[in-house]
Amino acid sequence: MRAIMVAGNWKMNGLNADAEHLTQAIIDAGLVPASPEVVLFPPFTLLTTVQQVAKGGSLRWGGQNLFWEAHGAYTGEISGAMLRDTGCRYVLVGHSERRQIFQESDEIVLRKVKAALHSGLVPMVCIGETEQEYLEGRTQEVLRRQVEAILPALGSAGQQANLILAYEPVWAIGTGKTASPAQAQEVHAFVRSLIAAKSPDIARKILILYGGSVKASNAKALFAEPDIDGGLVGGASLQAAEFIQICQAAHAVIRGL
Ligand code: 13P
Repeated sequence: MRAIMVAGNWKMNGLNADAEHLTQAIIDAGLVPASPEVVLFPPFTLLTTVQQVAKGGSLRWGGQNLFWEAHGAYTGEISGAMLRDTGCRYVLVGHSERRQIFQESDEIVLRKVKAALHSGLVPMVCIGETEQEYLEGRTQEVLRRQVEAILPALGSAGQQANLILAYEPVWAIGTGKTASPAQAQEVHAFVRSLIAAKSPDIARKILILYGGSVKASNAKALFAEPDIDGGLVGGASLQAAEFIQICQAAHAVIRGL
């Protein structure tokens, strides 16, 4: 039985006061330490605020990006060690906004995944097809390429999965168009089969989250699917009440309600 995880990607939103309020509200809702595991991905500038509010509890947090080098003359970049220094356990890698706006290739994503693992972070690798690729029926082809690109960094059989995958169809991000639970399940099962080709053991253990217009009203049906192990939530993670309801939906699925 895999865990269920709910992660909030705040993207480039929020100031310190917002981070303090949002983090405190989630803690006050009493969702943690009970499963699901809840992870926040604030902008870099808010990591220490989240750390101060959440320290010592079971809420987790991570960075939205990292650079592959450990240190040096890389103006504007952040290393895995710097993220660890603010208490991060996780880091997002290869979000579609980074792939599209900042031209991050599969090779760059692999370098970042390796750097994250090297720093002791758990990378949450985002994959997903664009609307055009979806309409052209190329979803599986794109996902195969994106997953195979990071397979060299995947742990070996017998170990725990050393990374998390988040399937985020680009056409569903911030659009209000969610993949139906059945549609998302089919893709998740396909992604798991790609991992199984390298290691059936890791494929059984690896968390594959769904992202793309997850909200309180659709979370439970998505998380109830056998290969959907939770959600990576964008817009709805910025509203405490909505995000807490999504966490409660995950909790209900875990308890079989
Ligand atoms: P939305 O939930 O706003 O669609 O964003 C999804 C996402 O990109 C999370 O990483």
